[in-house]
Amino acid sequence: MNPVLEVINNRRSVRKYSEQPILTAEKKQVLNAAMRAPTAGNMMLYSIIEIEDQNIKNKLSITCDHQPFIANAPWVLLFVADYQRWWDYYQHCQMKKYCEEKGLVYRLPQEGDMLLAVCDALIAAQTAALAAESMGIGSCYIGDILENYEIHRKLLSLPDYVLPITLLCFGYPNKSDNSLRKTPRFEREFIYFKNRYKRLDDEALSRMFQPMEDLHTREGWSLDGARNIGQNNYQRKFIADFSIEMNRSVKAMLNNWKKTIRND
Ligand SMILES: Cc1cc2nc3c(=O)[nH]c(=O)nc-3n(C[C@H](O)[C@H](O)[C@H](O)COP(=O)(O)O)c2cc1C
Repeated sequence: MNPVLEVINNRRSVRKYSEQPILTAEKKQVLNAAMRAPTAGNMMLYSIIEIEDQNIKNKLSITCDHQPFIANAPWVLLFVADYQRWWDYYQHCQMKKYCEEKGLVYRLPQEGDMLLAVCDALIAAQTAALAAESMGIGSCYIGDILENYEIHRKLLSLPDYVLPITLLCFGYPNKSDNSLRKTPRFEREFIYFKNRYKRLDDEALSRMFQPMEDLHTREGWSLDGARNIGQNNYQRKFIADFSIEMNRSVKAMLNNWKKTIRND
């Protein structure tokens, strides 16, 4: 296996960090790698906000579904989808006037533009995660940054066309962390299709989840009264408070984006 594949294959989310600091030169390497990620139209529709203020880290560790390790992470980067920079540049270039002169459509950023910027932010984030991993620096995504949009928006001074997409915590792994192990994945036949999407029938779904059911039994994990992984996952994640809040918060993001379209 080549070294790049080895890094990809051995990566695990790291949530407990050692005292070893991440050096400025190392941070630069990770940031440079992130900025080499592919980006739609080479527009770099994302920004990276380093959260170095301990007070903000502390707040995020609460607003992102109470995850204390965020406050302890040596390096925290927020990846935001960012159309604001290009939108401001369009204004700077007097786009409205130019469109009137040329008879061109003058429009505001819409949902498609937003999703493209989200793609950019995530691709840059994962490039940073892998670059860090290749240097022995662990990382963990925090999806809960999608919650509490109004609070995060204010806390981080995010303008209309900037959405918080993912937070990445970085740090050298704590050597005494016994929870660090490679997590299983579903078999490829359920994830990878050729030419057409393949909707899984009952039989395939049962086979897909069997190894996970077996793991639960082997490890003696509780299903909290549920009869299977599906019921357990539904009650523990899909209808959990954080999930309800995430959906409320993302709706607020979308409404805000759309409201701006109508009002601008
Ligand atoms: C979009 C996304 C959001 C995630 N959010 C969290 C989170 O809020 N807290 C956390 O501890 N891990 C989070 N993770 C890490 C996943 O739990 C982890 O990737 C998954 O369990 C597989 O484990 P592995 O990364 O060690 O292979 C997130 C991962 C992704 C990709």
